[in-house]
Amino acid sequence: MAAEIQQQIQQLRQQLQQASYAYYVLDAPIIPDEVYDRLYRQLQELESDYPELITAESPTQRVGEQPATQFFSVKHNIPLYSLENAFNFEEFAKWQERWQRVAPPLTPPYQGGIAPPLTPPYQGGGQDGITSRLSNDENGEITPPVVGAVPPCPPWQGGVSYVCELKIDGSALALTYKNGVLVRGATRGDGVSGEEITQNVKTIRSIPLKLNLDNPPPIVEVRGEAFLSLAVFEEINREREKAGEQLFANPRNAAAGTLRQLDSKVVDKRKLDFFAYTLHFQEPVGAVPPCPPSGNEQKTQWESLELLRTMGFKVNPNRKICYSLDEVRDYYEYWDTERRNLPYMTDGVVVKINSVLLQKQLGFTQRFPRWAIALKYPAQEVPTIVEAVTVQVGRTGALTPVAELKPVQLAGTTVSRASLHNGDRLSELNLHLGDTVIVRKAGEIIPEVVRVLPELRPQNAQLFQMPSCCPECAQPVVREKGEAVTRCINTSCPAILRGSLIHFCSRDALDINGVGEKLVQQMVDSNLLNSAADLYDLTSERLMGLERMGKKLAEKLVSAIAQSKNQPYSRVLYGLGIRHVGTVNAQLLTERFAVEELATVSAAAIEGVYGIGPEIAQSVSQWFRVPANQSLIARLKTAGLQLQSEVKTPNPADQNLELAGKTFVLTGTLPTLKRDEAKDLIQKAGGKVTNSVSAKTDYVVVGEDAGSKLEKAQSLGIELLSEAELLELLSKP
Ligand code: IVH
Repeated sequence: MAAEIQQQIQQLRQQLQQASYAYYVLDAPIIPDEVYDRLYRQLQELESDYPELITAESPTQRVGEQPATQFFSVKHNIPLYSLENAFNFEEFAKWQERWQRVAPPLTPPYQGGIAPPLTPPYQGGGQDGITSRLSNDENGEITPPVVGAVPPCPPWQGGVSYVCELKIDGSALALTYKNGVLVRGATRGDGVSGEEITQNVKTIRSIPLKLNLDNPPPIVEVRGEAFLSLAVFEEINREREKAGEQLFANPRNAAAGTLRQLDSKVVDKRKLDFFAYTLHFQEPVGAVPPCPPSGNEQKTQWESLELLRTMGFKVNPNRKICYSLDEVRDYYEYWDTERRNLPYMTDGVVVKINSVLLQKQLGFTQRFPRWAIALKYPAQEVPTIVEAVTVQVGRTGALTPVAELKPVQLAGTTVSRASLHNGDRLSELNLHLGDTVIVRKAGEIIPEVVRVLPELRPQNAQLFQMPSCCPECAQPVVREKGEAVTRCINTSCPAILRGSLIHFCSRDALDINGVGEKLVQQMVDSNLLNSAADLYDLTSERLMGLERMGKKLAEKLVSAIAQSKNQPYSRVLYGLGIRHVGTVNAQLLTERFAVEELATVSAAAIEGVYGIGPEIAQSVSQWFRVPANQSLIARLKTAGLQLQSEVKTPNPADQNLELAGKTFVLTGTLPTLKRDEAKDLIQKAGGKVTNSVSAKTDYVVVGEDAGSKLEKAQSLGIELLSEAELLELLSKP
């Protein structure tokens, strides 16, 4: 029986793993999502019945149940070096001269600083130490390696062999596999130690939890870059904007910020991806290095990349072996333009000496390997003049200084405005009106001012300082301790009002068709709107008082506004624009609390909602304490908007006290409820569900084909319940 279950679990894991690999690594799905979900649920159910069979590499273990409280520092098994930079091709050529000078003396016929030959049985050492077991044909196509086999060496071509890879702009990760199973994921940190973030790393579907190797070496270290695709980065920033949170400046910051989230459920939603680029097989501590080297050792970087691919990693496909400086230059130039069509960010190419033996001989400086270099692309930066600085007030009251620029061409678009972020950034820049500045597309998306050229400053130029009063309502602004953002806190500030109304009517909120920026501005200016509740008092006659507003359009708007009363409560809550309440948090909160409850419960109770952290809870609680917000809610309620909890999840305080803390075991197939549903109902009522029957079990819920658990319950005299009895018990007040 146990062996059968074990086998079933094993098979499900394998099926899921293969499907996930095809989807996330090969980008070629092999089964429909529904089938994947069904297999996943089957595995989850089996693992819930047999928790002793859960293993770290099970696909169900990708997302952790509990958020971490902090991260711990760990020492890297092998230090993570950084790369020396070359900012143009000439610098790269100089680097080649340099390493060739320090390369070991050459023995004929080896030229160009190439490693001496390898002696048998260290087979496959090509004349230049390049033991490519692979061929990469003219199209760059790769023939997959047969691990362990030693195909013939490529013919000696003279000169050097480099592997050129794209430099992915993300965050470096060090992964440790013990006997083939992922046991540790860590950030780069200072290169010697990083933070242990294994649970977050496991959410990255393109990282295998188990290596696809029959006889994995005891310790395998894999390094690579975690990154966010541009599409996901933009989506995250859109969500943050809606929730009134500070935007990530570029995908690299967003990836690094995501990896350091304590809750792996949040990381999971952010859809990080990963390209592997280095591979080390480490002998267990104390082991005598094998001589000759074990067949596992890679002799070239190219082979390492291929082996990483075979092991189940995603390896960037745009890699190339180059045999000369000219080939490297072609690669570098080709990708300078072509990288703009990639769905992720690259900021250069990494050129690595292919031969591992030569790499070892060249070694490292204090900070860099001597055998690799990052050949960077010039940042997309241009100089221009700041003609003025305006200060925008967002719906959260945040003041953002914006440089109004003499229009300039940058990365294919005309840029006439660039963000100066906040007061701190302004002070750092020491920006004067009329200054010449360097503008860059940060993350190639949002233009920003990177630096000022003070030597070009006109005489008597005036220093720009953040205003002490809101430019829209003239009320004093505040800057809270520890915050970089200056805010207007006047709740009747027209800019905040306009921003909040636009948000309230936006697509993910009340989705009121036709009410956009222009109309909101008109309605606020003509005093038709002073709060979102005023929308519901509008009539077509009143709207027709606005410039260029005909009867038909006015009636259409009134009808669209009336229709929004049917929008679900979660959209209303999101539409209120409470800080940190995006669409997801709004959903979580409305499943638990009706609006009256949100106005009365403590921040601690709000934090009790799974997925809601202290900062969000505090922000919600504060918002509901403001009298003006309370009267807004009262008016929205009178207008007939949906403000009742959508799926009522009882508070512990409301729970059936008799069931609180009681322990249930489920056995057999219940007539209507699925196991997960029954479990959910019991937990929501305050009970606990465990897998094995013991003297501590209070109830055993018995379905058809119940087995040994029923017998054990009977022998211990534990109360048995049918599904109907369970439901009755759960519904007791
Ligand atoms: S190799 C000793 N390969 O660039 C080997 N790094 O500026 C060092 N990076 O810290 C890394 N793409 O995070 C390598 N194909 C690639 C890379 C890459 C991105 C990052 C990596 C490194 C940083 C150095």
